[in-house]
Amino acid sequence: MVRISLLLLCLLVSTCLFTSSSAQAPGFVSLDCGGAEPFTDELGLKWSPDNHLIYGETANISSVNETRTQYTTLRHFPADSRKYCYTLNVTSRNRYLIRATFLYGNFDNSNNVYPKFDISLGATHWATIVISETYIIETAELVFLASSPTVSVCLSNATTGQPFISTLELRQLSGSMYGSMLSEDRFYLSVAARINFGAESEASVRYPDDPYDRIWESDLQKKPNYLVDVAAGTVRVSTTLPIESRVDDRPPQKVMQTAVVGTNGSLTYRMNLDGFPGFGWAFTYFAEIEDLAEDESRKFRLVLPEQPEYSKSVVNIKENTQRPYRVYAPGYPNITLPFVLNFRFAKTADSSRGPILNAMEISKYLRKSDGSVDATVMANVASLYSSTEWAQEGGDPCSPSPWSWVQCNSDPQPRVVAIKLSSMNLTGNIPSDLVKLTGLVELWLDGNSFTGPIPDFSRCPNLEIIHLENNRLTGKIPSSLTKLPNLKELYLQNNVLTGTIPSDLAKDVISNFSGNLNLEKSGDKGKKLGVIIGASVGAFVLLIATIISCIVMCKSKKNNKLGKTSELTNRPLPIQRVSSTLSEAHGDAAHCFTLYEIEEATKKFEKRIGSGGFGIVYYGKTREGKEIAVKVLANNSYQGKREFANEVTLLSRIHHRNLVQFLGYCQEEGKNMLVYEFMHNGTLKEHLYGVVPRDRRISWIKRLEIAEDAARGIEYLHTGCVPAIIHRDLKTSNILLDKHMRAKVSDFGLSKFAVDGTSHVSSIVRGTVGYLDPEYYISQQLTEKSDVYSFGVILLELMSGQEAISNESFGVNCRNIVQWAKMHIDNGDIRGIIDPALAEDDYSLQSMWKIAEKALLCVKPHGNMRPSMSEVQKDIQDAIRIEKEALAARGGISDEFSRSSAHSSSLNMGMLDLAGSQSYVSIDESVLQPTAR
Ligand SMILES: *[C@@H]1O[C@H](CO)[C@@H](O)[C@H](O)[C@H]1NC(C)=O
Ligand SMILES: *[C@@H]1O[C@H](CO)[C@@H](O)[C@H](O)[C@H]1NC(C)=O
Ligand SMILES: *[C@@H]1O[C@H](CO)[C@@H](O)[C@H](O)[C@H]1NC(C)=O
Ligand SMILES: *[C@@H]1O[C@H](CO)[C@@H](O)[C@H](O)[C@H]1NC(C)=O
Ligand SMILES: *[C@@H]1O[C@H](CO)[C@@H](O)[C@H](O)[C@H]1NC(C)=O
Ligand SMILES: *[C@@H]1O[C@H](CO)[C@@H](O)[C@H](O)[C@H]1NC(C)=O
Repeated sequence: MVRISLLLLCLLVSTCLFTSSSAQAPGFVSLDCGGAEPFTDELGLKWSPDNHLIYGETANISSVNETRTQYTTLRHFPADSRKYCYTLNVTSRNRYLIRATFLYGNFDNSNNVYPKFDISLGATHWATIVISETYIIETAELVFLASSPTVSVCLSNATTGQPFISTLELRQLSGSMYGSMLSEDRFYLSVAARINFGAESEASVRYPDDPYDRIWESDLQKKPNYLVDVAAGTVRVSTTLPIESRVDDRPPQKVMQTAVVGTNGSLTYRMNLDGFPGFGWAFTYFAEIEDLAEDESRKFRLVLPEQPEYSKSVVNIKENTQRPYRVYAPGYPNITLPFVLNFRFAKTADSSRGPILNAMEISKYLRKSDGSVDATVMANVASLYSSTEWAQEGGDPCSPSPWSWVQCNSDPQPRVVAIKLSSMNLTGNIPSDLVKLTGLVELWLDGNSFTGPIPDFSRCPNLEIIHLENNRLTGKIPSSLTKLPNLKELYLQNNVLTGTIPSDLAKDVISNFSGNLNLEKSGDKGKKLGVIIGASVGAFVLLIATIISCIVMCKSKKNNKLGKTSELTNRPLPIQRVSSTLSEAHGDAAHCFTLYEIEEATKKFEKRIGSGGFGIVYYGKTREGKEIAVKVLANNSYQGKREFANEVTLLSRIHHRNLVQFLGYCQEEGKNMLVYEFMHNGTLKEHLYGVVPRDRRISWIKRLEIAEDAARGIEYLHTGCVPAIIHRDLKTSNILLDKHMRAKVSDFGLSKFAVDGTSHVSSIVRGTVGYLDPEYYISQQLTEKSDVYSFGVILLELMSGQEAISNESFGVNCRNIVQWAKMHIDNGDIRGIIDPALAEDDYSLQSMWKIAEKALLCVKPHGNMRPSMSEVQKDIQDAIRIEKEALAARGGISDEFSRSSAHSSSLNMGMLDLAGSQSYVSIDESVLQPTAR
């Protein structure tokens, strides 16, 4: 016995050894989606095709720069309401990195729209994949702790194009890696940035340099809004000496051997963080790779412009590592970060060298979704039919979208409410697990070859509809079945049931027991008549119900939502997505509101809140309580539905927190409407010289913050969108303020909707007098710099509180704010243009000058002389910094309304002692101390 088990052990060990030595990277799975043959790439990674997948179709991509074999193929799926899943084997309680990549390559030969769809890990929404370029590889990456023997990655919810995938890579991490991740059972880490600073080329560093095949992206990679605004004096340094690292989650040596150094004292960068704002995990990696003299030091602090509290701790590499060429990794395991991250490392006054940065990693916490309560039960049911296609859909039965033969309710932890397996050639007993679905409302198992008895459904009190007809079921009708409190339909005809027809069935239950030769009618003939009458009444009810549901269907034709109980009466249930012809024709990403919904929300356009070149804006509140602004476009002559849909599709792609959020559109009865989030505090114009009383007007620092917000929004249109969007009609009435007085830019991307309806960029000059770029007016050549001109005018308005064009304010022979302000500023008379509503102690002249100078640059006659929006934004930030320091020195930080209170309250003299740039924030230091790993 002992010998046998020893032998077995030997066998096991030797096979283990054999497999691990033949596979270069144990715990790695690399799926080449759409591929046909396994292969090993030049990195030594073994790729296998995904040809075991029964869903989807493969496609070849050609004429792509990308020559790696795995990117010459992909697998795509229908754009329906289903999800399509890959299931991967994992080992429970092990940590993994999973990466999905997407290279579109125009596989569908569509020149209309790029695909946009969701991917999920199990029941958790992982990311929305938005393709914006044919040949750019989109990547989604997640770190997770496995809690079951398999994980599934599912593609679903295509709002445009078809879902597709190029590769799926699973990498097992070592046990200790990313162990500082908090609450792993509740969160995943979604990787937003992993950057190799000072990289020697655009190529990423990955396997085999990184044994876990994390991809360390080069800081030279060119992507929109990625690592821009680099400080002057930033120098790349590198070494070939080894770098010591004691822990394996540190970046590989090759990454640590390069760095950037801020020789002028600071390193600055700006980048978009996908998935943020949110809570994240952010670590930086430093190693001294320059040979500093004994008396030299390198000390610096992190500066996040919006979170001054983080600037307190100082990085001192020497002190933390004792010697150079050793990794030091301070960071924050749980920090709030914005979507657009601006960060700076600034040298301390007593440091002899500027800051250094070798690498950085930022991930977002993604809350795990629990998925359906019925997941285990449903997995058991599906496992009984593992050879059929429908049982292999994978993932959670309900989330993010249900299996094709299942319907779920919308609880936070959804329950299965309907099973639809009519005519699927099923044999054997009815799966006993079905009776454990306690939320079940409908059960459709008719037209199969089920044998054996009807199980006891008394644990499913919500059951309303049971279809077991046309099977080969035997035995008696269990009395529990007829006692279900909510039963409405019971179809058992054409089986081989025995015993008697239950006599205690409620009157209003539609039932059919015919065709069961050995089933006896209980009681007298009157009962039989009852059944017939019941059945025909039932049929009538059914007819009515069908008609009603058809009407409901037609009415809500454009409402894409599926599910819910109202749908349950509508049989047989279409599993397809209900969508309008508009979206079918075009696959639009924008939500389509019905006219009914809009009329309900706006109470038939009761409250008008604005108007402009594009139409009239009304206030509304949706049934869910969301406040909206509905813009009814004045241009009804919009050429076609298709063109309109195309425009709104483009609009719905633009997301930035300083742009008013586009929620959807409505096109019915000749009306074209756009729906936006409602902005509580109206337009900047109203606050500067509108209905707001003079003494309540916004303070200078608030005006600067508004300018910064707006600048960010515009800058995003110019640099973050592909192709770039030129606003063309920037003005104070297009800058809206939310509840918290944060500003967002509105009416972007609307030029095509303008009243004249033309769509040629250069044919007609568009804009508002006073804001219009004179160069554009003359040349009709539109560039981003035309927006910069308009923004310069806005800056002048913010300073002066004067409208852009006025017949009275600017004296004789001058109607225009630009001429007027230029005259004053050129004469050194800045006070002459400052808004009299601003009290003298409310602003510092230094910040005023900074804005004035920038504003004049913005309104230079020629576009090439004007700064870019990001340069403007930087100066506004500088002005804010100056103003905050001045305010701190004056004894308090002002918020939007504090000006009036600062006037009335006597200044707290004690606070003046603390004057200094950091004295105004009180913080819990323990939270803000970085953790060194
Ligand atoms: C892709 O290319 C392979 C090899 O050239 C070929 O066998 C396969 O049929 C192609 N697939 C499609 C969908 O065109
Ligand atoms: C190939 O790469 C070059 C340079 O990176 C680029 O200019 C070109 O547009 C690319 N071609 C395609 C088809 O992507
Ligand atoms: C996953 O595990 C199951 C059961 O252990 C096995 O049958 C299957 O072949 C494995 N799949 C892969 C892709 O290794
Ligand atoms: C589908 O995608 C749209 C647009 O991205 C999103 O608003 C919606 O919530 C998604 N639906 C599901 C079920 O995830
Ligand atoms: C991060 O902190 C926030 C606020 O304190 C908390 O709600 C959240 O759960 C934390 N995240 C994790 C992953 O611990
Ligand atoms: C059921 O079996 C028949 C005959 O084998 C076949 O034609 C039919 O496609 C099957 N239906 C399903 C849903 O599998």
